[in-house]
Amino acid sequence: MKRMAVLTSGGDAPGMNACIRAVVRSGLDLGMEVAGLRRGFEGIFERDVIGLERRAIVNIVQRGGTMLGTARSQRMHSDRGVADAVSALHELGVDALVVIGGDGSFRGAAALEAAGGPRTVGVPGTIDNDIPGSEVSLGFDTAVNTALDAIDRIRDTSTSHEMLHFVEVMGRSCGAIALAAGVAGGAEAVLVPERPVSDDDLALRIAASIAAGKRSVIVVVSEGANSGGAAEVARQVGAALGLDYRLTVLGHVQRGGAPSAADRLLASVLGIEAVAALASGGRGVFVGVRDGRPVRVPYDVGATNMTLDPILLGVVDTLA
Ligand code: F6P
Repeated sequence: MKRMAVLTSGGDAPGMNACIRAVVRSGLDLGMEVAGLRRGFEGIFERDVIGLERRAIVNIVQRGGTMLGTARSQRMHSDRGVADAVSALHELGVDALVVIGGDGSFRGAAALEAAGGPRTVGVPGTIDNDIPGSEVSLGFDTAVNTALDAIDRIRDTSTSHEMLHFVEVMGRSCGAIALAAGVAGGAEAVLVPERPVSDDDLALRIAASIAAGKRSVIVVVSEGANSGGAAEVARQVGAALGLDYRLTVLGHVQRGGAPSAADRLLASVLGIEAVAALASGGRGVFVGVRDGRPVRVPYDVGATNMTLDPILLGVVDTLA
């Protein structure tokens, strides 16, 4: 292998830059030429490629976002698009590709290989932590801490005003951010898509909390917990209880910011591991984490459903 490329794809996640840095450094150390494709798979179609020398990746380990840019490439959803991407990669002389992104990005990487493209290895990069086969993905820890910081602040005002608050966090179809930030923030209830709770049941639980003397109530709602998001839950439950409430939608603030120490460490370990996998002839896998150690996981494991940590689900039931 002579020329390795790296791209970041899908929603950006804190730690992507630290991972690019690890990929570039370890690739150069192994004598490879390393290139970066800009804006995810779109950079392949556009031949938007930059050389990544040691100097190109200085001072990025601490930065949020991704220096390569990212996109959700619609063109990768068609056979024609995948075939075009394979031709472009051959034309660009890319022998191997590191794809940092979520499950959609891994499907793109697998499609490239199936259509005769270069060998690929993925690194899980999404704040949602929704990649089966890996205990954790880049950006999750930072996003949880960002959400937690907001919940702590809302607790102050909720306590002062004895007010009911709803806080919506990200996680398209996975409640991992809600569960972790909700437990750590002492939320009175956590709503996740994996375990639906009716508005009536939630109203009863909040009423019981208030009857038991709680003066500050925070409900953390994963954006995918129902079709209307936290706004709809808040409207229904507020009306059922006859209580005034406040709603905070955290949104994209959770995607940005400096990566936490845990995300920088994870990015560094997995970036090096991805290059090692490619250097030893690996293909069709992403490098994930199992029992705290890096492991190589076939892309198709990512087609199964991710389940939430049952221990944390138990904790929220006991403490909320
Ligand atoms: O996949 C990460 C994520 O932030 C999800 O939590 C969220 O549903 C989605 O991306 C938002 O995507 P976009 O920025 O394209 O609206």
